[in-house]
Amino acid sequence: MRSKEDLEKEIRRVGGDILDSEWFIRGFSQPHHFRSNVSDHELHVTKTSLRLAGLFSSADREALIRACLCHDMGLIGNRKVVYTTGRMCITQHPLDSATRAKDILGSISAKEKDIIEHHMFPLVLKRPNSLEAVIICIADKYCALYEPFTVRSSSERLHSRMKIAVRAMA
Ligand SMILES: [Fe+2]
Ligand SMILES: [Fe+2]
Repeated sequence: MRSKEDLEKEIRRVGGDILDSEWFIRGFSQPHHFRSNVSDHELHVTKTSLRLAGLFSSADREALIRACLCHDMGLIGNRKVVYTTGRMCITQHPLDSATRAKDILGSISAKEKDIIEHHMFPLVLKRPNSLEAVIICIADKYCALYEPFTVRSSSERLHSRMKIAVRAMA
C-alpha cells in the first residue's frame, strides 16, 4: 500500500495546477461539513479515493485526482447565495463544479466530467458511469462522516506537506 507521503506527492504532481489555482485557495474560506471547508474536504476525498483506487489496477488515478480536487468547487460563493434551497444545492453544485474545473484546466475529459457531475449519487439520481465515479461516491460520503471531528492542526500540517499556500482571498 502506498504511504501517505507518496499519495500526497502524487496529488501534487498530477493536480498542482489545481492546488495553486484561485478557486482552490478560495475554497479554504468556504465552510463545509461543520468544522471543515471545501478545499480541505476535496483533499480528503482525493486521498481516500486514491486508497480505494489502489484496489483496482484499471483505475485512472490521474482523472480521479483532477476530478476529486474540483468536485465541490461549485459550492464556493454559491451556497446559500445562489443555491437558495438544499435541493438546489445538492443538484446544482456538481454541474457548477465541472464548469469551474474546465475554467482551471482548459478542458476536462468525459471521465472527469462523469466523476464530478455524478459524485452526489444516490442523493441525486444521476448514476455514475465509471469505476472512478463510483469510487468518489463512496469516498465523499465517508469523508463527510469524519470531517465534523477534524482538527485544525492536522489540516495545517497537510497544507505544509503539500506546499499549499492557504491565505485569505481579497
Ligand atoms: Fe458535493
Ligand atoms: Fe464532496
